[in-house]
Parts: sequence; structure tokens; C-alpha cells
Amino acid sequence: MSGTGYDAVSYPGYAYNQTHPDRLATQATLFGMAPAPPAACRVLEIGAGDGGNLIPMALGLPGSEFVGIDLSAEAVARGAPVIDELELPNVTLRVADVLELPADLGQFDYVISHGVYSWIGPQPRDALVAACGRLLTSQGVAYISYNAYPGSYLRDMASDILRFHLEGVGEPAERLARARHLMALVVAANAQTPYAGVLRHHFERVLQHPDPLLYHDDIAEVNTPVYLHEFVAHAARHGLQFLSEARLHDSQLHELPEDVAWELDGLPDDAVVREQYIDFVVNRMFRQTLLCRDDVALERSLDARRLAGLSFAAPLRVEPAADGGEPTFVRGPVSFQPGRPRLSAALRAIAAAWPRAVTFEWLTANLDATARDRLGDELLEIHAAGALDLHTHPPAPAAVPGSRPVASPLALHQVAAGLDRVTSLRHASVQLEDPLAVHLLSLLDGSRDRDDLEVALREYLAGGGLDGTGVEPPPGDLAAALDAALARLAELSLLVA
Ligand SMILES: C[S@@+](CC[C@H](N)C(=O)[O-])C[C@H]1O[C@@H](n2cnc3c(N)ncnc32)[C@H](O)[C@@H]1O
Repeated sequence: MSGTGYDAVSYPGYAYNQTHPDRLATQATLFGMAPAPPAACRVLEIGAGDGGNLIPMALGLPGSEFVGIDLSAEAVARGAPVIDELELPNVTLRVADVLELPADLGQFDYVISHGVYSWIGPQPRDALVAACGRLLTSQGVAYISYNAYPGSYLRDMASDILRFHLEGVGEPAERLARARHLMALVVAANAQTPYAGVLRHHFERVLQHPDPLLYHDDIAEVNTPVYLHEFVAHAARHGLQFLSEARLHDSQLHELPEDVAWELDGLPDDAVVREQYIDFVVNRMFRQTLLCRDDVALERSLDARRLAGLSFAAPLRVEPAADGGEPTFVRGPVSFQPGRPRLSAALRAIAAAWPRAVTFEWLTANLDATARDRLGDELLEIHAAGALDLHTHPPAPAAVPGSRPVASPLALHQVAAGLDRVTSLRHASVQLEDPLAVHLLSLLDGSRDRDDLEVALREYLAGGGLDGTGVEPPPGDLAAALDAALARLAELSLLVA
């Protein structure tokens, strides 16, 4: 992808939760490493763009140092005023080519590179992995995301079609419009052969992508997927080994039919081979792989004893059982009913604490070692199923709105810049669907109590919104709607404690 083409389209409000030092440290700890504490570490992001991913981390971890490098001076120049406005002394964005990194960078506990490896040519791609090998500390962790085969053969088919269609079209808005038009045409053709059906389904999904993602992922000029085993071999040439995927959930066999999972479980005891076969059976298209130095001794079997010092968090919905038995816990598409009161009690405590986290020590305070390990194993299994988050350095947003609620300074900056996608204090992108919620967020600088906020919202509604074209008022009583909206912002981890 050309630098100029990319610069015209930015990723406002996007942050990648899986790249956060808390995530990388947690995963490394589970696999027996002793990673640097997220609250006191050095992080390098290669291809950091305008710092949209790095700046929120620096805000949340003031004792750590963050360096972002990017080839694009335009992107770096976009990030600089945000850093100034938020007065962040611990983050620097530098214009640099990964092929010629400055000599004064030093060593890093975490090196992250999201959305870069597959989208650059062979030389910078190799330089990116070499930089991880050269700059990581002894217990350091690198995160690299990339498009993966075999799933990306489908992407290749789509890319070939779009590349032909967009030949000679340089202007980003026009590329986007033309790509959307052709994809819609293929969808409308509704051809019924198996390949046509797969492509139609793919284009239907891609048509839902926001412009930045479509531009970067689907109509990029360079898009080089690799098999996991090729990626790992590449890393090995630079003294690095496969640690894990960034999300434990992505390496699990839970969602596969039992006989398939059983067969994969019987593969040789080699983490990479096992992961590679998972990719074959799930047709994986994208990976977020963690690497560490090849001399680190990893412990690959999960062990509850490594939960010491870690914390659990999850927005679990608790559905009581009709017969007074154990409740059902629901998170998104995952629902489960623990068979044991002790596990239910732990999950209830985690649900009640959201958006805060609960330490494993607190959950197991009165248990002997056997009971503690059993509960730990059960919680780890639920974490692996994707229903519990695990933290080394949990985010600590306000659990309930204060009397003068305060939003994250970054979210305030983002809504002031006209965005409705903001970055939460748990390093997640939050799309605010409702203009009233966006306006409310913009008022939360700590200077207004509930009465002031209600007056301001009433004025906003009476004036038909900021542009006077009209805003749908919330149903019922405004004071109650304000309380509900504030509670929702707290739940989304957008309010500062
Ligand atoms: C697709 S963007 C990803 C940006 C960001 N990491 C994200 O995911 O939102 C790829 C970034 O890599 C940068 N890049 C491309 N080639 C590079 C190189 N040789 N050295 C440093 N950065 C490069 C581009 O300027 C661009 O900002």
C-alpha cells in the first residue's frame, strides 16, 4: 500500500485490545514467562500510524514509556497535537522506516505491530521481524498480526477481482466507492455455484466494514498472507519462537465437534503443528501471534498456580435458575451453567465488580491450596472459552458515575474532534450509536453535576441537537434517561474513577 494512499484515510478511535501490554504480559505469564510489569515497561509500536493505538496505552500506563515509529510523516504529524493536548510525556511518535530504524531506540519489553506485516513488501517485512529479534528484552514479547492461509485464499480471490477493477484509481474515496459498487454488484448477481456463494458471502461481510478497514484490508495494493508455519519459520530466522496467539480463546478446540477436537488433541506435542491444524479446520484468515526469544523456556500446559497476581473481569449477565439451583452466566454468545456453588459465587463476584476486575487472591481468600487450584482451573477454562478476561494490570474505570462524572480525557478529545467512535479505558473501541450519548460524553469534564447535565441535555434537545436538525429525545423522564446513559458510559469503561 502506498504511504500517500493510506494517509488520506485514518483510523480514528481504533484501538487494538490484543496489543495492550496487559494482554501480552498476561499471556506470557500463563505460559511461564516473567514479563515486565505493564505499569513499568517500554513499548515499541512499528507502523504506529498517528498513534491511535499507542496514545491510549500511554494515557493509561503513565509509568511506562511508549515509542511509535511510522514511515508516514503525515500520520505522525496527526498524532503529535493529540499527545500535546493530553500532555503525555511518556509517548513519542517518530518518522522512521523499519528498514533503517534509529540506532538510539534501546531495548523494549513489548514490540507490537498491528496490520503491517502482510501489508508491506518482503524487505520491510523481514526488517520488521528482525527488529523484534534485535530489540526485545530477554523476557520480552512481540505481537505481530497478519493475514493467514488457508482462509486468506478467499481474500486473494476477492483482492484479485478488486485489484483489476481499481487499476489506475489512486484517490482513496474513489477507490472505496468503486470497490463498494463492484462488491454490491457481485452480491446482487446472486450466482449459485459454491465458489460464487463463498465470494458473495465474503463481499456481503466486507461491505459492512467501515471505510478505514475496507481501505486497509480489502483493497490494499500489497496483501501477503502466510501460513502460521511460514510465519514461525520466519520468526525463527531472527531468534524468535512462537509463544501463543494473543487471545487464548483462538487456540482452543472447544467450539469444534468432539471427535474433531479429539483427533487434533492427538497430534504430536508441538504447539505450532497443533495451531496449524486448527487453522486448517477453521479456515483461519487472520492471526495475532505473540513471539518471544528462542531461548525462553515456555510452559505450555495451563496451570492455576500461574494465576497468582492476576485478576478476572467480565460483563456477565446472571440469569437465576427457576428451580433455585445454580444460575446461568451469559456473555455475548457464550452461556454456561457452573455445576458448583463455589464457582457460581466466584462468577457472581466477577459479574458484580464489572467494569472493575477481581483478583484471584480475593476470589480464593478462604480456600485451601487444593480448592484454590480447582477453582483456578475452572476459571481458566472459562477464560479459554472467551467468557472471562484475565488481567495482569486491570483497567480501573469508574464502576458508577460520580456526582460530577468525568470521562476519559482521550474520549473527550475524540468527541470534541467530531468522532462517535471512542477509545475506552480498557483499550477497546466503542461505537456510540446515539448522538445524545455522544453529546452527554462531551459534557463530562467534571464541572457538571446531575442537575447541570440535565439542563444541558434539555437545551441540546430543545435546540434540535448541535446542528439544529433534530435529535430523537429519549423515551420517558429525562432525569431517568440521564442516569441510564451515565450508567451505560460507566459500563463501557468510559468514565474515570
Ligand atoms: C495499515 S497501517 C496500520 C496502522 C496501525 N498499526 C493500525 O493498525 O491502525 C500500516 C502502517 O505501516 C506504516 N508503514 C508502511 N511501511 C512502513 C515502513 N517501511 N516502515 C515503517 N512504517 C511503515 C504505514 O505508514 C502505515 O501507517
